[in-house]
Amino acid sequence: MSRLDLVIFGATGFTGKHAVMECARIAKKKAGLTWGIAGRSQSKLNAVLEEASKKTGEDLSSIPVLIADVGDEESLFAMCQRAKVLVNCCGPYRLYGEPVVAAAVRAKSHYVDVSGEPQFIESMQLRYDAAARAAGVYVISACGFDSIPNDLGVVFLEQNFEGTLNSVESYISAHVAGEASALARRHGVVHRGTWESIVYGVTHRNELPALRKQLYPTRLPDFFPALGKRTIHRKNGAWCVPFPGADASIVYRTQRELYTRTSKRPVQFRVYVRLPNLVSLVALLFVGFILVGFSMAALTRRWLIRHPKLFTFGAVTDDVKEEVMDNTHFQMELHGEGWEKGSDETAPPNKKMVAKVRGTNPGYGATVVALLHAALTLHHPQRMPPPGVLTTGVAFRDTDLIQRLHDNGLRFEIVHK
Ligand SMILES: NC(=O)c1ccc[n+]([C@@H]2O[C@H](COP(=O)([O-])OP(=O)(O)OC[C@H]3O[C@@H](n4cnc5c(N)ncnc54)[C@H](OP(=O)(O)O)[C@@H]3O)[C@@H](O)[C@H]2O)c1
Repeated sequence: MSRLDLVIFGATGFTGKHAVMECARIAKKKAGLTWGIAGRSQSKLNAVLEEASKKTGEDLSSIPVLIADVGDEESLFAMCQRAKVLVNCCGPYRLYGEPVVAAAVRAKSHYVDVSGEPQFIESMQLRYDAAARAAGVYVISACGFDSIPNDLGVVFLEQNFEGTLNSVESYISAHVAGEASALARRHGVVHRGTWESIVYGVTHRNELPALRKQLYPTRLPDFFPALGKRTIHRKNGAWCVPFPGADASIVYRTQRELYTRTSKRPVQFRVYVRLPNLVSLVALLFVGFILVGFSMAALTRRWLIRHPKLFTFGAVTDDVKEEVMDNTHFQMELHGEGWEKGSDETAPPNKKMVAKVRGTNPGYGATVVALLHAALTLHHPQRMPPPGVLTTGVAFRDTDLIQRLHDNGLRFEIVHK
C-alpha cells in the first residue's frame, strides 16, 4: 500500500484536532496532498473528522483513519509504514513519545512533533540519532511554538546580519486582545495537555545535566564577550524573567551542531518572558514555586495534574475557548549583537539588529501551522543536511520554511538595523 504524505497521530487530542483542521486547509490549496489521521479510538477519530469537516467546510469523509496505540508496538509500526512523515501530537512525550519515534525509525518514515520537553528531545537524540541516519529519516522535535519562533528566529537574524552575530537576547510576550481577555481570565488560556508536560518536565529536570554530559562530552570553547544571564529585570517598562521552556536548550543544540558541522561561530542565546505588570510577575513566580515544590512528591504531583485550574489561577483548562485563541497574539523580539563584516572580533561588538517573530494563537494556531509546514518541508529535503535526529534550526535553515511560515501568519521581520 502506498504511503500517505502525512499521518497525524494523537489526532483526537486538543492539539491534534487543530492540526487536523489546519491540514484540511492546507490540502485544499495543495492539490494531490494525501494525509490520514491516527489514534487509539475509531469512534473518536471519526468524530474528529466530522467536527473538522463542519468547521472547515471540507469533505473529509475519505480521509483514512488508522488505529494505533502507544502500548502496542506493532500498531505503531503499521501506522508509520503508511506515512512518509509521521506528525506526532500525542503527549506528554515523556510518557508516550519514545515508542512512536522508535516505530517511525523502524518503518523509515520521517518524524516531527511539538514536544517542548528537553529531557525527551535530548534522550531521543542520544538513543536514535545513529538509527535515524542509518534509516535515512529525519526525526525533528519542537516544531511548534516551542521552539520554531526562537530557533528559526536566531537563524533568520543571523542570515540578515551581514557580519558576525555574537549573541541574541529574546523577549517573549503575549496578550489576549479586546473582549476576549475577560473570557481568558474566566476560562483559561492553556490546555491541560501542555500543563501535564510541564509538570513532568519540572519533576525530572535533574536528569538533564547527566544527559547533556553524555550528549556533549566536550565543552564548547568560550566565546567573548560572554552573554550574561539576567535574573528578574525591567526592559522598556515591562518586568522580564528567564523563560524556563525548551527554547534555550534547542537553540543551544542548533548553534553547537552548526559549529561542529561548519565551524560557524555559535550564537549565544538567552530568552526571557516579558510581563505587563508586577501582579503578573508575582503570579508567575507563585505558580513557579508551587510547580517546583509540588512536583517533588508523587501525591502532590497528582494534585497538580488533577487540579490545574486551582494551581494556575485558572490559566490552565480542559477547553480553551476559540475566541480566546483567535485573539491571543504573541511576539518574540530578538535583540542581536555582533560585528560589522570585516571588523576586529576581539574588539567590543559594533553592530546591533532586532528581529521580531509574531503570530496568533501560539499554542494551537501558530503551533500547528509551524508543525505541518515543517512536515511538508521533509517531502523536498534537497536543501537539508543529511538525515538524523536534528533541531529545527539545523534541519531547516537553508530551506524556504521561514518564508512559508511568514506567508502563513508566523511573521519573521527585521525591525531595527
Ligand atoms: N510546542 C508547543 O508549542 C505545544 C503546543 C501545544 C501542545 N504541545 C504539546 O502537545 C502535547 C499534547 O497536548 P494536548 O493538549 O493536545 O494533549 P491532549 O489533548 O491530552 O491529547 C493527548 C493525545 O494523546 C493521545 N493518547 C494518549 N495516550 C495514548 C495511547 N496510549 N495511545 C494512543 N494515543 C494516546 C490521546 O488520545 P485519546 O483521545 O484517545 O485519549 C490524545 O489524542 C503535549 O505534550 C503538549 O505539551 C506543545
